Amino acid sequence: MPRAVPEEPPVHPQRAAMLIPSLSPDAIQKALTSQRLGKNIHWFETVNSTNVQAHALARQGAPEGDLVIAEEQTHGKGRLGRNWSSPSRLNLYLSLILRPNLPPAHAPQITLMAAVAVADTVQSFGPFPLEIKWPNDVLVGGRKIAGVLTESSSDGTRVFFVILGIGVNLNFPREQMPEEIRDKATSLIELMQKPVDRNAFAGRLIHNLDQCYGSLEASGFDEIARRWDGYFRLRGERVRVVMPEGDASGRAVGIDVDGALILEGEGGRRERILAGDVIPQEKS
Ligand code: BTN
Repeated sequence: MPRAVPEEPPVHPQRAAMLIPSLSPDAIQKALTSQRLGKNIHWFETVNSTNVQAHALARQGAPEGDLVIAEEQTHGKGRLGRNWSSPSRLNLYLSLILRPNLPPAHAPQITLMAAVAVADTVQSFGPFPLEIKWPNDVLVGGRKIAGVLTESSSDGTRVFFVILGIGVNLNFPREQMPEEIRDKATSLIELMQKPVDRNAFAGRLIHNLDQCYGSLEASGFDEIARRWDGYFRLRGERVRVVMPEGDASGRAVGIDVDGALILEGEGGRRERILAGDVIPQEKS
């Protein structure tokens, strides 16, 4: 008679997170099949912010594709002046130096391109109910798992460089999340009930970024916009957008060629939103 194999009990996320190996530039590079991005890795145990470090390197002339990655950030930066919780050795905090051949007005396309690459990477770990909240929050089941912060240096006509900063909650047990994000955030360890190999995740992510960036450069924004749209769940929904200069409301129509959100208000009047927090409204 066949013996029943006892099912392995799920590892408690907090305990599992203690078994997580370090980030290793060698291991990331081994997992990398990319041509351009991540060839040169600047690894730090602790930094203020990988975006700040990458910015300094770019100003000193570091080439496109250089990657800054850290085990911990003491001043991780989020969008709209927020901070990004960056405890040591649990998650992924990285910034890439890009030197795209884009007019400054189209630089936001980089942010949307990155959101697609992040979403594809997270999705490759399981059939999670994933969505992108405009412009670049990656959510699973309504909770944020990753964010993208791009900062660019340009004059009126030319982009000198873009710092593409990405934070992904990988082995961040709910118990260790700061209280203010505990009900709004999630992480892969929470979704999978087992730790994620951060080096493998980083390798896959950089590979996907390389592909998406290549596609943006070679074929323009249409293909990326189409893929972004595949993760956009608020099309046609009523939303409110909270902005420093005041709120806007309307139906979310989609994104414009520069990545702006298009809202349709009363009487069909359309408005382009460049930055803000999108809040879905109750369906009537
Ligand atoms: C957001 O608010 O959603 C954007 C979060 C971006 C966080 C990442 S972590 C790596 C990089 N360095 C930073 O200081 N911020 C970005």
